[in-house]
Amino acid sequence: MAVLGRVLMVTLLFCAGFLPALSVDRSNFKTCDQSSFCRRQRKLEPGSSPYKALLGSAKVSEDKLEVQLIDDKNEASLLLEVFGLNGNMTRIKINEINPLKPRYEVPDVLVGTPLPENLHVTGQDENTLELTFRGVEHKLLLTGTPFRMDILSGRDLVLSVNSRGLLHFERLRERKSNLSAKVSMAFVNLWHRVKNLFSSDPEKIDKPLEGDVYPGEEAGKEEGSKKEEEDDEPGMWDETFKGHTDTKPYGPSSVGLDFSLPGFEHVYGIPEHADNMRLRTTESTDPYRLYNLDVFQYELYNTMALYGSVPLLLAHNIHRTLGIFWLNAAETWVDISSNTAGKTLLGKMLQYMQGGGDTPQTDVRWMSESGIIDVFLLLGPSPSDVFRQYASLTGTQSLPPYFSLGYHQCRWNYNDEEDVHNVDSGFDKHNLPYDVIWLDIEHADGKRYFTWDPHKFPTPKNMLSRLKDKRRKMVAIVDPHIKIDGGYRIHNEIRSHGFYVKNKDGGDYEGWCWPGSAAYPDFTNPEMRAWWSSMFSYDQYEGSMDNLFIWNDMNEPSVFNGPEVTMHKDAVHWRGWEHRDVHNLYGFYVQRATAEGLIQRSGGKERPFVLTRAFFAGSQRYGAVWTGDNAAEWDHLKISIPMCLSLALVGISFCGADVGGFFKNPEPELLVRWYQAGAYQPFFRAHAHLDTPRREPWLHGEENLELIREALQQRYALLPFWYTLFYRALREGEPVMRPLWVEFPSDVSTFAMDDQYMLGSALLVHPVTEANSRGVHIYLPGAGEVWYDAHSYQKYEASQSFYFPVTSNSIPVYQRGGSIIPRKNRLRRSSDCMPDDPYTLYVALNLQGEAWGQLYLDDGHSFNYEQNEFLYREVSFQHGELSSRSLDPRGIFETPSWVERVIIIGATKPSSITISIPGGTTKALEFEYDFNRSVITVRKPGVNIASDFTMSVR
Ligand code: NOJ
Repeated sequence: MAVLGRVLMVTLLFCAGFLPALSVDRSNFKTCDQSSFCRRQRKLEPGSSPYKALLGSAKVSEDKLEVQLIDDKNEASLLLEVFGLNGNMTRIKINEINPLKPRYEVPDVLVGTPLPENLHVTGQDENTLELTFRGVEHKLLLTGTPFRMDILSGRDLVLSVNSRGLLHFERLRERKSNLSAKVSMAFVNLWHRVKNLFSSDPEKIDKPLEGDVYPGEEAGKEEGSKKEEEDDEPGMWDETFKGHTDTKPYGPSSVGLDFSLPGFEHVYGIPEHADNMRLRTTESTDPYRLYNLDVFQYELYNTMALYGSVPLLLAHNIHRTLGIFWLNAAETWVDISSNTAGKTLLGKMLQYMQGGGDTPQTDVRWMSESGIIDVFLLLGPSPSDVFRQYASLTGTQSLPPYFSLGYHQCRWNYNDEEDVHNVDSGFDKHNLPYDVIWLDIEHADGKRYFTWDPHKFPTPKNMLSRLKDKRRKMVAIVDPHIKIDGGYRIHNEIRSHGFYVKNKDGGDYEGWCWPGSAAYPDFTNPEMRAWWSSMFSYDQYEGSMDNLFIWNDMNEPSVFNGPEVTMHKDAVHWRGWEHRDVHNLYGFYVQRATAEGLIQRSGGKERPFVLTRAFFAGSQRYGAVWTGDNAAEWDHLKISIPMCLSLALVGISFCGADVGGFFKNPEPELLVRWYQAGAYQPFFRAHAHLDTPRREPWLHGEENLELIREALQQRYALLPFWYTLFYRALREGEPVMRPLWVEFPSDVSTFAMDDQYMLGSALLVHPVTEANSRGVHIYLPGAGEVWYDAHSYQKYEASQSFYFPVTSNSIPVYQRGGSIIPRKNRLRRSSDCMPDDPYTLYVALNLQGEAWGQLYLDDGHSFNYEQNEFLYREVSFQHGELSSRSLDPRGIFETPSWVERVIIIGATKPSSITISIPGGTTKALEFEYDFNRSVITVRKPGVNIASDFTMSVR
């Protein structure tokens, strides 16, 4: 017991970050080789597939094709289903025809059943079927022997499935020892049956006996199983890692399949990894791992798993973007190889000129521990098509409440109510805007979430009211591990409802986490989720108010004394599914149940805000995500960009990293640079570890305070722009923060760029992420376009690369010629003080003297926008006229906000400027012209932002 106690303590300290070492202990996490299914799958070498598709068995209905697949080796029979889906997508499912027990199919992630497209067989020979989908230029060729599928667009091959023959499907089977017992049981039964024939008791005659085996049912399975058993190897029926044994009661069950992408050299997505945006080839490393884990002090630039998983991979070349969405929630590994990896551009060109070059090709191989093969091929062809296709499957980013786009002040921990009050006042005193102050685990009574420490937080409602008076909010943490304590109501209720995850022996699963011994609610159970949601109502969550929002942490789930710091895979969930099947979904469900709770507490009226650490495909529907426990190091600041870009590409736009770095202490320069970068990332929150010294913005001297204030001001001024981008993310599935190639899809030089990015299509941001930086190398893409420095208005013709000298207050941001951006420039206490503030429109002209931009607004907090209480407007500048019109006539929202200024950048000097509104008079406006910068500043146009107007610049 003492030893166990010490082990637990060390683990606890380790997880809490008290040890000095600052890099991950890799030995706590499995390599592919240590994860037996990954080892087995990866052992299979590319070659001719042992599978053939029995074309004679093909059944074609209106919306799907069904074909049996047979494995040469063991005659395993699988069913392949191919669906054509509306919007240029194809779904492929492969499952066992008659599995020993049902295999897990991921529920709740798809937002509906995707609409099928008609499909027809349009050609056939003895080894091939040609399928055509209605209304789509693609064809699918299904080859019988060896089994493969090829998708063609016209005469071009877009993507092949199983062309490297890596389909590997481990059928469920009885364990050898069980099997021999079963075979002898069959003999016993046979003997009884023969005996029964002579029996006079009619009850016994023909009665199926327990464990009986009937020809054609089990016998076929046995045949296959016997052959498979010859290949049995360690790890198939149980697996031990660092003293934790996974009992694997159902044996090996993994699935794997390969995809070839001819013509593609750039692939992206499959977060979460602390790596560059462009995925690397994994021939000489481990595959990318998708297994939600609490990785203490994660290292950068590798393929190790992190807190969340989205199994969507994107590929892009100058002709096409496509996506592969592998819908499986079990531990998954993704191997990437390429025939051009390691070759220099020159090398590739030489090869091409000498005629020796293959078409560049990327090969991707997915391997999951259990479940079925269920994969969606999103065929683009443009980046926005792929975003729309993926959004039609998993939904879009929910529209955040406006306040949550402001700045968040967090640390582990703000100690008590007075501390909260002082920090809050500090922002006023130093004239800094902020919206939310956060409370970490120490606020609760002994880490019993939904409660408050009676000494430190005796009057939570007073505290919340004081914040409310200042139009500010609070976020409190509610983790999913529940302290096992008979005096804790939440625990007692969950236990009495039987809502905890069970261990393999049927008892409540117990693990060690912040509160000590804890149990884990089974969020896969809809009844449990409903109960959890109800706990956020004001009468249940005592001390809560409508300006309190929630943070779900540790929801991988983190189990300090569990295998790889998470839950045992043989733990049992709702309906008997193993944790193995649902692991990557756990965090998704936690955030969902919490978000639904916040909606319910308001009677369905108010939008929730919930931050989660673990996530899966579809998590975008429930709130924001952050990149977990980073460190106060320059490389961590740098990696926050590709980490959030990778999330944005897979639908999760509301992403941020702990500003300042969680572990260690940032020197003031790093802290300031982090504020400057964070101000231009979607979720903007400073956070710090319990052991770090205080680092509120005013603790680093006047100069740094001023720099941080300036960064915050830039953030707040751009809130109307951010909000509009989030509206477009909601409606169109467009990422808010996006890689350059999304906007410039044929500019190859942008394909691997992840030190600069776009916000929408109008702003290019290149944060300074190096110490003592004197300048940054900027690339402005788009031949024939112009850009303007967003601060100085200096004009740049594109495309061009240049060295931009920086000083401590530089945040290199460029506005694209041809765009219009709305800003609110008055410095306020919080975003909630700004709704009626006036707008300044920044009109950046392109070379044709034109520009466009949008503005979305609503009340910023309710769902009333769904009842048309919104405004969605377009402002454009053409032929010397700036005009504003509604983009969606349904919108009926009213606002007193007016246009206080228009800045026209890249303009020649006008002689007069007038403004008119329909049915009104025309009035002349005052303006100034700056010759050096070619900028017109028009003062007080005075029109309401919601009204149509025309401003003539002559
Ligand atoms: C781990 C989280 O990643 C971190 O942000 C938090 O401060 C600690 N848990 C304590 O709750």
